[in-house]
Amino acid sequence: MAGQEISKEESLSLKGYRHACHIMLYADTDAKLFGKIPIKHIVLMQMRFDGLLGFPGGLVNPAEESLESGLSRELWEEMGVALNVAPEDHCSSCVAPSPPQLVTHFYTKKMKEEDVREVEKAAVTAPDHGLEVMGMVRVPLYCLRSGEGGFPAFLSHSFISNSRSQLLSALRALGLLSWAALDAAVTQADQIRQ
Ligand code: GTP
Ligand code: MN
Ligand code: MN
Ligand code: MN
Ligand code: MN
Ligand code: MN
Repeated sequence: MAGQEISKEESLSLKGYRHACHIMLYADTDAKLFGKIPIKHIVLMQMRFDGLLGFPGGLVNPAEESLESGLSRELWEEMGVALNVAPEDHCSSCVAPSPPQLVTHFYTKKMKEEDVREVEKAAVTAPDHGLEVMGMVRVPLYCLRSGEGGFPAFLSHSFISNSRSQLLSALRALGLLSWAALDAAVTQADQIRQ
């Protein structure tokens, strides 16, 4: 479920399409799990009301607001923080595989570890907390010795639309995980899902 990539400009000229904007907030960290397994990066996703994992964000009406200000509004609703999103934070746009007639715009934004912690604290005070959003989650990027625990197990869960592809592409593009580590985790996740 990767969807068809399209430029932001071209997608905005499509007739009859809806637009959704989501963002991956992330930070570097020195923290170690059990005092020994490096966490390396904090990456935020959310557990949605429908039980699927996805990124914070939502539907934006380009006739009424820019994609970035619409995304900021959604972040306020879903995480209780006023975060500015800039056009430079745009990463990719896709004609989504489902539902029909939807373009999904994806953004990434690097933050400081302490700022991510503030976002996590504010999230429980957000208007949509416990309603559209069941909670923010961090993505475990390490792989435990069992081979399944950590990132492979995370990837074996169910994701909304093409958010799983967005996660994998962003981790690769930003160099947060190596191609080899991503490939191994995806293979392992496919085995868990069977
Ligand atoms: P309402 O306020 O209830 O309309 O929800 P919303 O505006 O927050 O919309 P939502 O975040 O559910 O996103 C709208 C649509 O985009 C969803 O129905 C999904 O098809 C898709 N979607 C949701 N989350 C993601 C995501 O993280 N990535 C991608 N690619 N698509 C998503
Ligand atoms: Mn909305
Ligand atoms: Mn949403
Ligand atoms: Mn929303
Ligand atoms: Mn919705
Ligand atoms: Mn809403």
